[in-house]
Amino acid sequence: MATVLTEKQGSVFEINLNRPDKKNALTLAMYVEMTALLKQAAEDPNVHVVLFRAQGQSFCAGNDITDFVSAAHNPNILQDVLVFLHTLASFPKPIIAAVHGDAVGIGTTMLLHCDLVVSADNLRCKMPFVQLGLIPEGASTLLFPQLVGHRHAFELLVEGRSFDAIKAEQLGIVNQITEPDLLLETTRNRAKKLADSPVDSVIAAKQLMKAETLKSVHQVIDSEGALFYQRLLSEEAQKAFMAFLQK
Ligand code: COA
Repeated sequence: MATVLTEKQGSVFEINLNRPDKKNALTLAMYVEMTALLKQAAEDPNVHVVLFRAQGQSFCAGNDITDFVSAAHNPNILQDVLVFLHTLASFPKPIIAAVHGDAVGIGTTMLLHCDLVVSADNLRCKMPFVQLGLIPEGASTLLFPQLVGHRHAFELLVEGRSFDAIKAEQLGIVNQITEPDLLLETTRNRAKKLADSPVDSVIAAKQLMKAETLKSVHQVIDSEGALFYQRLLSEEAQKAFMAFLQK
């Protein structure tokens, strides 16, 4: 079964995570697939907006931990993740996300690269990178302090404190909260309005809004990636992965 589904709603292109039995934890194959889809959507003049969503009870439980366990045997393990993050960060058209349930690790940090986020009221975000012996990724060490200030960012990224939809809205990670049953419809309505707006104006506005920080974002994605790989190999991280997988 495909772990990433797609659907076209007018000029909105939906990328739908489809690994619900694993809470949509992202495998390397899923990163490759999403990168290809984003590249295709960027090129296609009939796509005006990309909408990320997910099947099942959760948006995304982060990177697949089984893949992390094999890091010692695969020095290129993060390559596909980094290419995805760079592609997402510099995607030229608007990205809107519909999120619900658990959003862990990259399930939260990828939201920093979305332009609008609509959340179900059952959202639970968590970035337990440090607790797993890792370091935060996805340029979150740059973008979170910019967004919420150092102390709130420290709570989220270093203490790994979890937070709900209301807190996510207060922090500026989420634009709108809905009941779970209305999540898809609300997000699609918002995406459609955006897609029907003058497309070149939308793209130019996004580009101008992001231009200043984008260069740093790409640099930070790479510098976090290098440290992340070192930490993946650490005894602390490997122990934490085994503990999760054996639970
Ligand atoms: N990698 C691999 N498998 C994962 C996973 C991940 N990141 N997250 C969840 N799964 C799997 C579980 O092992 C379980 O598989 P099983 O049914 O074969 O045993 C299945 O998905 C359901 O997860 P479960 O833990 O039973 O669901 P839950 O509702 O009790 O908890 C989470 C949901 C997201 C809170 C919990 O799964 C979790 O903490 N996952 C790890 C998140 C994480 O640390 N990600 C990496 C961040 S860098």
